[in-house]
Amino acid sequence: MENDASAVIDAKPPQSLTDPLTDPFTPPADSSLWRTNFLLGAATASYQIEGAATEDGRLPSIWDTFSATPGKVLAGDTGALACDHYHRWEEDVNLLAGLGLEAYRLSTAWPRVMDENGAPNHKGLDFYKRLLGRLKEKGISTFVTLYHWDLPQHLEDRGGWLNRDTAYRFADYADLMSRELHGLVDAWATLNEPWCSAYLGYGNGHHAPGLANGRFATQAMHHLLLAHGLAIPVLHANDPRSLKGLVANVGRGTPNSESAGDRRAAELYEVQHNAWILDPLFKGEYPQDLVELWPGTEPLVLEGDMQTIAAPLDFLGINYYFRTSLASDGAHGFRDVPLEGVERTQMGWEVYPDGLRDLLIGFKETYANLPPIYITENGMASNDEVVDGRVEDTQRISFLKRHLAAVDQAIKAGVDVRGYFLWSLMDNFEWAFGYERRFGIVHIDYATQKRTIKRSAELVAKFLKDRNARAQ
Ligand code: FCB
Repeated sequence: MENDASAVIDAKPPQSLTDPLTDPFTPPADSSLWRTNFLLGAATASYQIEGAATEDGRLPSIWDTFSATPGKVLAGDTGALACDHYHRWEEDVNLLAGLGLEAYRLSTAWPRVMDENGAPNHKGLDFYKRLLGRLKEKGISTFVTLYHWDLPQHLEDRGGWLNRDTAYRFADYADLMSRELHGLVDAWATLNEPWCSAYLGYGNGHHAPGLANGRFATQAMHHLLLAHGLAIPVLHANDPRSLKGLVANVGRGTPNSESAGDRRAAELYEVQHNAWILDPLFKGEYPQDLVELWPGTEPLVLEGDMQTIAAPLDFLGINYYFRTSLASDGAHGFRDVPLEGVERTQMGWEVYPDGLRDLLIGFKETYANLPPIYITENGMASNDEVVDGRVEDTQRISFLKRHLAAVDQAIKAGVDVRGYFLWSLMDNFEWAFGYERRFGIVHIDYATQKRTIKRSAELVAKFLKDRNARAQ
């Protein structure tokens, strides 16, 4: 966990490997990625890979309910089986170790480890103890996210994130996990992407629990951030040696024209996607511009909440995927104007590595107390197929290389980025898009559960091997 981004580059690549024609992935010789203290890992999340939805006392989550509702998820897919990771975790840890990945970001499923009265479910806890214990044995750093969207359904039945009490229940859950798992976790993240939980879950209804009301979104966000702020001191008390942070998805918005209206639209887009979360965390207040964007939707904030939310963090996790081009909507908001002729992924998302660099540099300028950063997710979906036992995911290789170059540029501009997690270790349940969209560096055949290492994974593994060899 010792990652000093200012350390000297301590491993040098051989010149031949840096030729893009002979090696489409290996970073150039002067890249910060050659530092052996820059962590390179992969990420997953419980509901997207575990399956075993009713096993060993696991309770239903909002995603079980949502995905079972006709019309909510493409092709009616659910996470009931997913990658069957609950049973195949040993094979999956071996995959991670075999690729030489140095860190693994996973999430724990709240409905697996606690019953309706808040009592521990030891069978569920034992699963995570076995998994994390094995990862530690293999020397893999463990980044655990407590909430990657699988809220217990019984809490949703009492209002979910619209109910302030859920924030206190989350702190109880964080208490249980950090008492049970301390020593096995290098870094705790409280929440994954509160923007998605609040906005997609309660604001437009594209995600579970599927409610659509602007006022709900801001109130759910406030309770999510409060849950985060309440959990940080609890995690610290139970597990003082680990890092504590939060994972935010951030979006790059650029104006569709040079007009003042479009420039303002791009600004408001970034307020809605980034500042809505980062301002409370690092300035202790919601951005004023939210009122212009969503008049009349201010959440109920109690005395002391903002101080709780702004608890100091050891790290910020950044998830980055794409950029959006914005135009004014003629009123006080913005509309998305998709650019023509740009490179896109299977999700339809634009490939735009500069956005990651620009956002990182912008955050450093905006937030004086910005903690060290890990890129906790970055990657792309492609329609990968196994042909003669191989998966040639050419676009992903180039995508990863370009985004890692953007991270390197941010580091050289002074941003303290200490690691990068590919999304994802393996193809998995991509929320409302089900199994159609493949983000993995390992291919999953859902009929047989066979895992096939894609070409991108081979190249990442080769780079890590070269880096270790040079560092000896
Ligand atoms: C992020 C989620 C992650 C995955 C990627 C593609 O928003 O955190 O679970 O679905 O997008």
